[in-house]
Formats: sequence, C-alpha cells, structure tokens
Amino acid sequence: MNEAPIGMFDSGVGGLTVMRAVMRRLPAESIVYFGDNARGPYGPREIPEIRRFALEIATFLESLGVKIIVVACNSATSAGLLDIQKQCSIPVLGVVEPGARGAVQATRNRQIGVIGTMATVRSRAYQKAIHALDAGARVHSRACPTLVDFVERGEVSGPRVEAEVRRYLTPLIRRGVDTLVLGCTHYPLLRPVISEVMGRNVRLISSDEEVAREVEENLARRGYLRESSSPPVYRFMCSGDVEQAVSLGRIFLGPEVERVERVELPLGREGK
Ligand code: DGL
Repeated sequence: MNEAPIGMFDSGVGGLTVMRAVMRRLPAESIVYFGDNARGPYGPREIPEIRRFALEIATFLESLGVKIIVVACNSATSAGLLDIQKQCSIPVLGVVEPGARGAVQATRNRQIGVIGTMATVRSRAYQKAIHALDAGARVHSRACPTLVDFVERGEVSGPRVEAEVRRYLTPLIRRGVDTLVLGCTHYPLLRPVISEVMGRNVRLISSDEEVAREVEENLARRGYLRESSSPPVYRFMCSGDVEQAVSLGRIFLGPEVERVERVELPLGREGK
C-alpha cells in the first residue's frame, strides 16, 4: 500500500476527463492535477517545445512525491512520453497507446479515424501505435485545431461548435471510418456533438477508461493501491488563470474542484 497521490497533467482542463475516469475506478486514490493553462493550448506548438514543457511538469510532479504520472494529454504523450519515462524514476503512462488499442479492438472494417491537435497528428503517434497492433488497419487522421479553444471557453454545445465539428468530420465520414479515436483529452467533453455528427454506427474511442484500468493494474501489481479509510485528497494546480481553472474545473469535473493553486513558471522542485 502506498499513500502517495497519482500525478496527472494536461495543457488545461482536457485531462480532467482522464482524472474523472481514474476517480471512478479508484475512488480511494489521491490525485494531484496540473493544468498548464498559461502555455496551453499545446496543439499549435512545435513538438520539441511541448516535450520541454512535459518534461518540466513531470519533474515537478515527481518532486511532489507522486507514485505514478499519467500524461493526460495526447499532444504531450505524442511529443515526449518516452523522454519523460527515461527521465523519471517512477512509472509514467500516456494516453495514445490505450486509445489505439481500443480502436483496433473496436473496428470491424479496419478503417479507423483519428482526430487530435496539430501536434498529435503531425507526430503520427496514433498511426504508429495502431500499426504496431494491426499493420493492415487504415488510419485516417484529421487535425481539429479549433476544438480545444471551444472547450477551454466552456462552449461544448450549440450551433457554432456543431458546425465546426461537422466541417472537420465530414471527410472522415466519407472515408467510411467505423471507429473514431478522440485523440485529444479535451474531446470527450464534445462527445454528444461528435456522436451526433458521426452517427450511431461509428464507435467513439477515448482513452480515459483504458488509462484508468492501466493505472489500477500498475498500482495493484506493485502493491501500491491506497487502502486507507480516510478520504482521498484532490489537489489542483495551474500555471495561469485560476478563476477560469476553477469555473471550468467545476463544470467538467465537479465540486471536487474547490480550490486551484497557481504555480509560477518555470516550475521548481517543491519537495515532498
Ligand atoms: N488535451 C490535450 C491533448 O490531448 C491538449 C490540447 C491542446 O493543448 O492543444 O492533446
């Protein structure tokens, strides 16, 4: 048993979709969440820069004494998961491989659509992860750069976002994909709109549940699951606008987001 929290991060609120899945699956676990909202969105940035931010945040989380890190951001996973794993002395899980696995298992016609940020699509991380599991699957990727901004503004329904989603997804519908990977942790918040546009026959895959299962397996195998009867502690941190982080956090995660601490960049070590 290990009382230490799980560390998670994203460029903003998107990773809360993964946090929610982890909270549901592992209700006893404490979690520290970091949203890099001063530098997000990451999607339009260059891959080496995203990698640098991700390494900085992972080092910071490790200095807080977390027992495992979940990179709850596809852009950061695509840009730097391997480097973070090499740098950290604790296990680090990403969100791309679990999503790829879910898609390969779900597709019937092996035509898989992937939507994500510019950085994720440019990195070809999903193609590689999907082809590592099924070299014959066809992967149709599409960057949807404006969708993260809609979510970060709290606009997850209505005609404007629906028109934008339709514009991005129509070419994938024409390609005949039967499975669509929501390759950005912000997109599950748009699931109703995406599902409406894609239609009932297309399966939507997001990595949150898969990642939660992996976290559980990882902690259980090492005997690190928390078994305490005292309630878990949720700690939220961000690098930018605290009020925006609190209000969006409450909408997207719930009342657990009572307070968000602002941490100055560049991130230093905090000590345990
Ligand atoms: N939610 C993140 C992802 O999964 C980042 C989106 C962004 O910052 O552009 O890719």
